[in-house]
Amino acid sequence: MATIIINGQDHTLPEGEKLNAIQAAKLAGVDIPYYCWHPALSVVANCRMCEIEVGQKDAKSGEIKMVPKLVPACQTPAKEGTVLVTDSAKVKENQRMVMEYLLINHPLDCPVCDQAGMCGLQDYSYEYGQSNHRFVEERTVNPKKDVSEAIQLNQDRCIMCTRCVRFTREITQTGELQVMSRGSHAEINVFPGHPVDNPLAGNVVDLCPVGALLDKDFLHKQRAWFLSKHDAICTRCSTGCNVKAEENRGQLWRFTPRHNPLVNDYWICDEGRASYKAANDPGLLTSSYARKGGELGSVPIDQALALASQELTSVAREGGKIAAVLSPFLTVEEAYLLASYLKELSPDAVLAIGPVPTSGQDVTFTPDQTKGRTGDTSFVVPRPFTIHAEKCPNRRGVEAILEHFEGSVISFETLSRRASGGEFRALYFTSDAIDPWGAEAEAKALRSGVKFLVVQDTLVTPLAQLADVVLAGGTFAEKAGSYVNADGRLQYAEAALPPRDGSLPDLDIFAVLMGRAGGPVRSREVLAELAGVIPAFGAADGGVLPEFGVVLTELGEGAREPVPAGSGGRFDDPWQLPRYLKGDRPGEPSPKGGQDA
Ligand code: SF4
Ligand code: SF4
Ligand code: FES
Repeated sequence: MATIIINGQDHTLPEGEKLNAIQAAKLAGVDIPYYCWHPALSVVANCRMCEIEVGQKDAKSGEIKMVPKLVPACQTPAKEGTVLVTDSAKVKENQRMVMEYLLINHPLDCPVCDQAGMCGLQDYSYEYGQSNHRFVEERTVNPKKDVSEAIQLNQDRCIMCTRCVRFTREITQTGELQVMSRGSHAEINVFPGHPVDNPLAGNVVDLCPVGALLDKDFLHKQRAWFLSKHDAICTRCSTGCNVKAEENRGQLWRFTPRHNPLVNDYWICDEGRASYKAANDPGLLTSSYARKGGELGSVPIDQALALASQELTSVAREGGKIAAVLSPFLTVEEAYLLASYLKELSPDAVLAIGPVPTSGQDVTFTPDQTKGRTGDTSFVVPRPFTIHAEKCPNRRGVEAILEHFEGSVISFETLSRRASGGEFRALYFTSDAIDPWGAEAEAKALRSGVKFLVVQDTLVTPLAQLADVVLAGGTFAEKAGSYVNADGRLQYAEAALPPRDGSLPDLDIFAVLMGRAGGPVRSREVLAELAGVIPAFGAADGGVLPEFGVVLTELGEGAREPVPAGSGGRFDDPWQLPRYLKGDRPGEPSPKGGQDA
């Protein structure tokens, strides 16, 4: 265990942790401002914002020798006897000068800039900068330009930190973004005809500490301070990337990545990023339906539920067979409640997994872990990032539930064949898929074999149009619950939106069918219950999961690696934190205290 000295105080670093001075100081509760450093990228030390006084304490004599010049903290390894001074007049004066320099050509765009409210320049200007600057010459004015169909570059606002350039070089290795020209003419650009075109491109917007790179999909739609952020999981493929679902006024406005060093590191793919839109689809069901006189008519969801329950109970009582399709878009809690309900109703009920959508092949980005990283002081080795061909979030979780109740997993194809052949009197079909299953002919074939069909979904699908009862369920954004990703990792997602008018979250639908009284059911309680019943979910004991999820040992495949050094907690650039976490309260002074020159 190394002991370092920060501002005159001894601090012991955790055993085995290799950290640079920014990371070590953060562990000790001392913030060092930075722009160009990012734990997953090589260290270039070009913004100079993190410069501090650095020295070394002699182990025998106790004498401290300081380096005469300021040194970038991002490039300083924290080791036994390292001395860091972050609060001296020399350090503060340098921070003020760096801020003055970075703002020389920066336009006063804050009122119209999307980054306002989560901007590294705004926050550091307030905390470390000065309110005057001495530049009287003509400012360099650069026009904004598109670096891809989805991303706009406002070069005036750029501070040349090169995070975006290093991302396309080191993580995607597509190298679209470059620094072009030199000195005061330097700018970020792409080669003509070669836009930023890779499946992870949107991450450069999140990496940009200022409002230079902007997502055109989000441009001028919301102010950052109006958005509530909810810890969610992307349901667009079985990677299970951790995302922040950003909501305002009952609508989702974007997904941004949430750091998980064991799943998605700091990134999400563009397809997942865009999938938030499905939660705002105007075609989402806002009513349930029941068939009367051959026609489907809108009914309140409680009536639809009563009808479904009545009919399923009478089928079971008369000895008719019931089948159910458990969608791989259901959470494990939902799948568990539905399976429990149907097996209680009829022990002979047959449960199968729903259609598992796939598209193409898995695509893996393996970051360059050596080139350009010699002498690196980030120490975090970026992990490979895979976009899975399996386009659903929870096949493995639903299969584990089915194995418990059925002893094996019945495929959707097998169940469809048996249902079309007339084996079942009633079928309960769940979906919630972003892309609905089944063309008209497939839906008709499935429907033709059963007397009573319940469809629980979020959209009007060909199968829903043939159902006897349609239950309006919740979208991924309206439900809380857990998913098991491709590596067997169980992760929890919060609900980001309240249920739509006329719908109920799927967990509540199943709880009502089961006659569980006492208001809305809590997913964490159901998770605790199923963890006690199904050994595969034993790691979810108590219903509360660790920050980065937990690998279910019976399901996991090589995903049990320890949290990489230097990322023992979630990493967020400080300017991305909500204001209450930044320490500011209305009417209170900034924790650092802004200073005039
Ligand atoms: S565009 Fe943003 S991320 Fe890229 S160099 Fe400029 S400030 Fe840095
Ligand atoms: S890789 Fe998969 S889970 Fe991750 S953001 Fe993309 S679609 Fe979503
Ligand atoms: S010089 Fe930019 S963060 Fe250290």
